[in-house]
Amino acid sequence: MDRRQMEGAIAGIVRLLGTSLKNRGLYPPTHPLVRNPVEKCHAEILPFLLDRHELALTISDGTLVFEGVPVFQLTSSLELFMARLGTIGVPAVIFERGVAIGDVESFVRFLHETKENGLPVPTIKERLSRAGVRHIRVTATEDEEDDFTLAREIYGNAVDVIVRALKDVRGGITPNGADTDRAVREMSGMLTRNRDAMLALTLIKNFDEYTYNHSVNVSILSIAVAESLSLPEQERINVGVAGLLHDVGKTQLALDLIRKPGTLTVEEFEEIKKHPEEGYSILGRMSHIQDKTRYMVREHHMRFDRTGYPRPEPEYRTHAHSQVIAVADCYDALTTMRTYQKARTPPQALEIMRKLSGKSLDPELVFLLERSLGVYPIGTMVRLSTMEVGIVTGAPDEGKSHPRMAVLFDPAGNPVAAPEAVDLSEADPSSGEPRRAILGTVNPLLMPAVSLNEVFAAASA
Ligand SMILES: [Fe+2]
Ligand SMILES: [Fe+2]
Repeated sequence: MDRRQMEGAIAGIVRLLGTSLKNRGLYPPTHPLVRNPVEKCHAEILPFLLDRHELALTISDGTLVFEGVPVFQLTSSLELFMARLGTIGVPAVIFERGVAIGDVESFVRFLHETKENGLPVPTIKERLSRAGVRHIRVTATEDEEDDFTLAREIYGNAVDVIVRALKDVRGGITPNGADTDRAVREMSGMLTRNRDAMLALTLIKNFDEYTYNHSVNVSILSIAVAESLSLPEQERINVGVAGLLHDVGKTQLALDLIRKPGTLTVEEFEEIKKHPEEGYSILGRMSHIQDKTRYMVREHHMRFDRTGYPRPEPEYRTHAHSQVIAVADCYDALTTMRTYQKARTPPQALEIMRKLSGKSLDPELVFLLERSLGVYPIGTMVRLSTMEVGIVTGAPDEGKSHPRMAVLFDPAGNPVAAPEAVDLSEADPSSGEPRRAILGTVNPLLMPAVSLNEVFAAASA
């Protein structure tokens, strides 16, 4: 087949999928008008898989792309099919060698039955596997995926795990320790693979889901500090699991107490104070949890100077790494906007933490957190000498002293059409001086809202 024939065949395959999908809305699943297009479609896929392992159709801006070239063959069934993929949020359809008629059928059923918009990729994957789809994937293989997408999937999985764990506890079920262990191992691996991508996600705060994001963020930041401490792998995992589950004891508290804006009454605070001990006992019932992890959860509010809660007896020895959780917890809380406080920028948060060093926080760990986040931590908004406003998207590249940066606002303060990655070491040819230098940090609350998701996706592209 030459390219034109291939494109024609691809359009045919997609049209058949669309026809089956359309008829699925009108006839029962076993009806020939639903079934025949599936069989035909399968037969047309097979020749492609003779000389390749997979047939990948990606979706870019609502257009079907095959091997880098858009396929335009507009028909109503093709449009319907593309529209379904687009609204569900499917980024690509990849037919693998070994694909069966049943896979195609189940895939069409999935498209027909899924009514939600913009599902996260991990959810789509899970549903496809639940629907019994074996040889049709919705993303490229892992090394083809960019790190940010991968980090986002891992982050999303960890959120799912903690959501389920908290739900289980509320329902009187002991959460599955194997799941939390796996989620933490994935995050730890991703931090090693691409630290910036994983850390950037801790700044994408979802204010409605504070507890879930907070748990995952504390886990990631704790692992980052544990890495700076050069802890062996299993220790890093223990710290990460403690970070993920540190507030699990709050499930025993009334929901309106956890969400209460403003200051707490003395009685309410006494209730809150019970959560580390509650967490300790919940972790005691879970599998895959080491004793050290339980102690870190119990001790995460005891404070470096032992003035916190539960108040330790003089002879009580705390676990060496409990303070890692405390430092990560503090940083994430300070950088998150909650109803009763304004979010601090990363440098502001670090400055506050430096003041708490030696008192409530362990000075060595505050120093390590600071060092591991850099002078301008990821997510910091800065004013540049051009008067543009940019955001730090990554630690300096090898051999460079400047952080990676993307410009978000022009000198007049208007958002740029698309975030543009700039290199701060780039010199102005006329003067030989750097074109752009950082003047200082900018409070993001004073700028129009930007989608950090988009910024970091663009920066990692
Ligand atoms: Fe806590
Ligand atoms: Fe916390």
